[in-house]
Amino acid sequence: MRTPIVAGNWKMNKTAAEGTALVRAMMADLMAIPEVQTVFCPPFLAVPDVARLIQGSTLAIGAQDLYWEESGAFTGEVSPVMVTEFCQYVIIGHSERREYFGEKDQEVNKKVIAALAQGLTPIVCVGETLALRDEGRTETWVRDQVVAALQNVSAEETAGLVIAYEPIWAIGTGRAATPEDAEQVCGEVVRATIADLYDQATAEAIRIQYGGSVNPGNAEEIMIQPNIDGGLVGGASLQAESFAAIVRSTASAKGLI
Ligand code: PGA
Repeated sequence: MRTPIVAGNWKMNKTAAEGTALVRAMMADLMAIPEVQTVFCPPFLAVPDVARLIQGSTLAIGAQDLYWEESGAFTGEVSPVMVTEFCQYVIIGHSERREYFGEKDQEVNKKVIAALAQGLTPIVCVGETLALRDEGRTETWVRDQVVAALQNVSAEETAGLVIAYEPIWAIGTGRAATPEDAEQVCGEVVRATIADLYDQATAEAIRIQYGGSVNPGNAEEIMIQPNIDGGLVGGASLQAESFAAIVRSTASAKGLI
């Protein structure tokens, strides 16, 4: 059985002081649910303080991005080596990075490879726009994104990583995908693509998250879906009660508590 994983993507929110206060407010609740792997993804400047705070606990830290080179003249960037000093996970190819910072599939792939080389677990984001969905192109789009992100990644490496299916029209809109639609893409598209690219065992092992307006009210019905192994949570991860409630709903939906 796959260990469910819920990650809080804070995006560009929370100073180091605010971030540690937020984590302090929910740490005890989250540590009481070790059945779910909980990951905080703060902005870089809050990462070290949050990492120190949760050191030795069941909780984990993820970066929101990285650059693929190990070091050098790349002003403003953070390397995988630097990320591993504090983080176990790293979000790669979030739709906001693709949309606002021009990140392309090929760069996403380079980042995935660089992260894996440092022993980080990538959370690779894929998802379609509303226009693509309306045109009936969701399946081919998501499949192509998965294939591109995993170029030259081995079956063993793929089995250990996380893919987050995040329909762009559902992110920050309050309009989550229906549990059925989310399950369909996570299962029949993402997991099926992994089976085609590698084998059934790899497809069974990889963890697939749903992201896009997950909140305490809809988490249970989404997380109960068999091909959804957790969530990538934006807005609702910025409040202790709502994030803890989502983690608890995930454990309950999977029959773990
Ligand atoms: P949201 O964001 O939960 O605020 O919709 C999800 C994400 O972008 O990861």
